[in-house]
Amino acid sequence: MSKPITILFATTTGNAEDAANTVAAKLKSAGFDSTLVSAANWTAPDVVNLAAEPSTLLVVASTWGEGEPPDDAIPLWDTLKELDGTPLTNIRFSVLALGDRSYEIFCGFGANLDERLEQLGGTRIAARVDSDVDYDGPTQEWTKEVISALSSDLAAR
Ligand SMILES: Cc1cc2nc3c(=O)[nH]c(=O)nc-3n(C[C@H](O)[C@H](O)[C@H](O)COP(=O)(O)O)c2cc1C
Repeated sequence: MSKPITILFATTTGNAEDAANTVAAKLKSAGFDSTLVSAANWTAPDVVNLAAEPSTLLVVASTWGEGEPPDDAIPLWDTLKELDGTPLTNIRFSVLALGDRSYEIFCGFGANLDERLEQLGGTRIAARVDSDVDYDGPTQEWTKEVISALSSDLAAR
């Protein structure tokens, strides 16, 4: 059996949720079940709970303000910044960042989150993809890399 996979989306106007649904469907076609969760319902302890056993955390997050999290992810981000040490060593993760190149801090929140998850002990299984407004192609590209990493994980067991 594969390790549990959680897809966490952080969104204001729904693009990241839409992309996260696409990712879940693609994973399902490749034989991987996943659980979709909204950042609106999560703070850092929920992420730490995931790390009680080896698991995969896939994050789809947009950027608002000037490189800031979308509103629904502010409590999550504030609490992740406060964690000490490396409580996420059991977590394998990857981040799909949604944004718009016309903003100065392109995909800033996704980049900050990607960096923070690693600082907290997580292992990146696929490089972050930063997507411009048309997120369909980047979503497919990122999902392909993620599925490839998950598949080689299974093959190695
Ligand atoms: C007021 C506003 C501020 C934004 N700030 C940024 C930004 O700083 N950097 C960036 O890359 N994109 C920025 N964006 C673009 C959004 O991240 C992009 O539209 C994204 O697809 C929204 O996804 P969501 O619907 O999941 O929130 C901004 C959009 C708006 C409307």
